[in-house]
Amino acid sequence: MNKDLVKRIQHLKKERNAIILAHSYQRDEVQDIADFVGDSLGLSREAAKTDAEIIVFAGVHFMAETAAILNPEKTVLIPDIEAGCSLADTIKASDVQAWKDENPDGLVVAYVNTSAEVKALADVCVTSANAVSVVSELDQGRPVFFVPDMFLGAHVERATGRKMSLWLGECHVHAGIGEKEINSKLSEHSDAEFLIHPECSCGSACLYLKPDAKIMSTEGMVRYSSTAQSKEFVVATEVGILHRLQKFSPDKEFFPIKESAVCEYMKMTTLEKILNSLEKNQFKVEVSPEIADKARRSLETMIAVG
Ligand code: 13P
Ligand code: SF4
Repeated sequence: MNKDLVKRIQHLKKERNAIILAHSYQRDEVQDIADFVGDSLGLSREAAKTDAEIIVFAGVHFMAETAAILNPEKTVLIPDIEAGCSLADTIKASDVQAWKDENPDGLVVAYVNTSAEVKALADVCVTSANAVSVVSELDQGRPVFFVPDMFLGAHVERATGRKMSLWLGECHVHAGIGEKEINSKLSEHSDAEFLIHPECSCGSACLYLKPDAKIMSTEGMVRYSSTAQSKEFVVATEVGILHRLQKFSPDKEFFPIKESAVCEYMKMTTLEKILNSLEKNQFKVEVSPEIADKARRSLETMIAVG
């Protein structure tokens, strides 16, 4: 790691009263300089409670946008404005509006991996850490539209027994983790526990191939593996999480289910871009007050549950 770069970031951070929030899929060196590393839920909560004047979001655009919605009076910066999300891009506000027009008594549940405009039309937002709890509390008599991840939606349906209309969106990284990957790692690591992110396409295959596999969010994996008896884990999600898992459990072994499960959007953030971001106050992520006020209502339950 470039020590001079790190020093300059630390210095500017102090001088400008800034905080760096990083998702667990970020590059190792970015995670190491962050003030807080976590999953979408933890990062949203941290963004909502920070006293810092500037939030540098080492993550992807919808995460920085969520921080901006929760902190209308603060400056939220994303080091690379191109850091998007293939899953969030699968759905537009007009798609949600079309379902609402056909289902006037319906409820829309939006995964946090969505644009601010989609969140503004939702009744409630969820993350992978609390989707099951939030959906199980919804009014039973009303139709539910779950957007945009079909694999997370199917997992929530299995866990709650609640039938929902699912938007057929997927994340290109997690959709590529399927039955084939589970089968090959099952033979290589027969004693290991399997930790699966609910966005993976292998969720239903898990039920019969590895019935004791745990389906959980990234931070759920960190917490679970640090207290579990097992010494070996096969991890089905973006490979950036391995750095954090290993940090929390140095005495345990973690094997990625697929080495090439890399989110190129998450890896766009580098130390150089973080320094640039602090120096030039770029790139500001702003949401119009009208959209932000509506989206904030759907985000408030998300932050409170789970
Ligand atoms: P988490 O909610 O587990 O942080 O996942 C976010 C994400 O983008 C998964 O691909
Ligand atoms: Fe989006 Fe998938 Fe990357 Fe997560 S891993 S940010 S869902 S593209």
